[in-house]
Amino acid sequence: MQLSGPIADRYRDFATYAAGDSPTFEAWALGVAEDPELHAWLADLPEPKQQPNLVFAAARWHGAAAPGEYAGLKEVLLDREQEVKATIRARATQTNEVGRLATIAPVLGTIEGPLALVEVGASAGLCLFPDRYDYDWPGAGALTGSGGPTLLAEATGPVPVPDRHPDVAWRAGVDLNPLDVTDDDATAWLENLVWPEQDERRERLRAAVAVTRREPPYLVRGDLLDHLPSLLDEAGRHGTPVVLHSAVVAYLDDAGRERFHDAMTARVAAGECRWISNEAPRVLPRVTGAHVPGPGRFVLALDGVPVAFAHGHGHSLEWLAAP
Ligand SMILES: C[S@@+](CC[C@H](N)C(=O)[O-])C[C@H]1O[C@@H](n2cnc3c(N)ncnc32)[C@H](O)[C@@H]1O
Repeated sequence: MQLSGPIADRYRDFATYAAGDSPTFEAWALGVAEDPELHAWLADLPEPKQQPNLVFAAARWHGAAAPGEYAGLKEVLLDREQEVKATIRARATQTNEVGRLATIAPVLGTIEGPLALVEVGASAGLCLFPDRYDYDWPGAGALTGSGGPTLLAEATGPVPVPDRHPDVAWRAGVDLNPLDVTDDDATAWLENLVWPEQDERRERLRAAVAVTRREPPYLVRGDLLDHLPSLLDEAGRHGTPVVLHSAVVAYLDDAGRERFHDAMTARVAAGECRWISNEAPRVLPRVTGAHVPGPGRFVLALDGVPVAFAHGHGHSLEWLAAP
């Protein structure tokens, strides 16, 4: 008989979510879901810290082999309980997916430069360097000549393939927890959060960290709603201000999302900046409107108007026909 309760449900749900992307995490999550000893192990952690992604990352940090069997995970959790729990309590899950630039770059190409980029929810700021990558959009075209790594997104629809890299005159970001790309511990933890079988993603992350380390970005610590005005003021002194974000607004509560949407709409209407949003469809419902993509796809919009559906990690780009 299956175990019941919130831990079993949470880990079973995670197994379903991980299936296909990480056989290791699927097996680990199913193992925890059915293991009363692990339920007891998890019980003294605060509920938000019981999340599988964090627990598995901490176990890997302390030596659990991944890809690897559930028995290996359990051994590390039980044998190194105090160290693993200290890591779980001290750290958080955080991502920075540079692959998203492959979907965002064509939108940037439609904006008159030089550009002054303000990324809200920038994490380590890896997406602040669209000018440092080459791009391959099979089905639409390519952009080469940056001297940097290539990012690829399968493309459909009338993608406006840029004929040159964006001219970025200034760039800055804000994040509740900005990661310093020059800090080996921070980047090792970021890498440790990439799921075991996602070798391509890990390689892309390593390459992006190397690119970003050459010129670490200016990142402010704090809430995006608080820091947006001053960053935009500064951006306006350097070029066309462009506010950009991907997989961030989902972290705001409903009132915060509304405030952010209203603020951006007002600034765009006043001609103070351009606005590139790349978020899951329910996150900014007034942007999404009738443009609801399939599962795992974001709505990519310019100035609040959807222009494309983008794979959540940037693997594909479906440009929408002009209205
Ligand atoms: C899923 S990550 C995405 C990072 C990056 N935009 C990317 O596409 O790779 C979300 C980021 O948003 C940040 N974040 C969440 N809420 C925030 C807020 N209210 N203000 C600033 N940053 C926030 C988190 O700290 C995290 O770094």
